[in-house]
Amino acid sequence: MIRPRLGWSLPRVFAHRCGGALAPENTLAGLRIAARMGLRAVEFDVMLSADGSPWLVHDERLERTSDGSGRVCETRDATLRGLDAGAHRHPAFRGEPLPSLESAAVLCRQLGLMANVEIKPAAGFEFLTGEVVARQVRELWVGAELPLVSSFSEEALLAAREAVPELPLGVLYESPPEDWLTRVNDLAALSLHCDAEHLDDSVLSSARANGIPVLCYTVNELGAAEALFRRGVMAVFSDRIDCVRDG
Ligand code: G3P
Ligand code: MG
Repeated sequence: MIRPRLGWSLPRVFAHRCGGALAPENTLAGLRIAARMGLRAVEFDVMLSADGSPWLVHDERLERTSDGSGRVCETRDATLRGLDAGAHRHPAFRGEPLPSLESAAVLCRQLGLMANVEIKPAAGFEFLTGEVVARQVRELWVGAELPLVSSFSEEALLAAREAVPELPLGVLYESPPEDWLTRVNDLAALSLHCDAEHLDDSVLSSARANGIPVLCYTVNELGAAEALFRRGVMAVFSDRIDCVRDG
């Protein structure tokens, strides 16, 4: 099995959903703030529109994080392009667009931010989302180091692996199942990502023995992050990028 590696070294901290709690989630403003705070890497969520284009959004519906309504997968690009994804967080962010994957990739590259692109398929669109996101990632980061691409959906990861064999993949679980190692190996994935609350030391020791980095979400206190690093966790995703520092 050839396990595609990262062309960049894992940082200790990824800003969660672009800029953590310091910006509206999954926005370009978040990327700018993460870079300004000295973060080396960010995580964001990507879902397909009704036109099959990848956009940065976490929920299947638009209401919580924008002034739009309805399901992302039933909304056309022309509508998504006109949405405000900032005002819900604070009036200072009014006018912040809902970013396409392309706009996020361009800005990450400009700012020198490494990325963990989380494929977040709407139900029923797992394979298509994995395939489209993987292909776009390869195109958008051409000539640069590829991001780490992760998902809770094994179907999406399988599609990504088939579409772009050289892509470094991370397998996401809330709580790793008994056979997590077999699943990670079957996908030739690089890393295991899980909820920090559900990580036990047997998973960590088997990950260490097999050379698989473990990354944990969502860690918002410095003490908790340091305890995880002492246990062998390689990196955390954090909303509190003002407190949980890299290095
Ligand atoms: O990728 C880590 C983390 O983002 C997974 O949870 O729900 O915030 O996407 P969620
Ligand atoms: Mg995520």
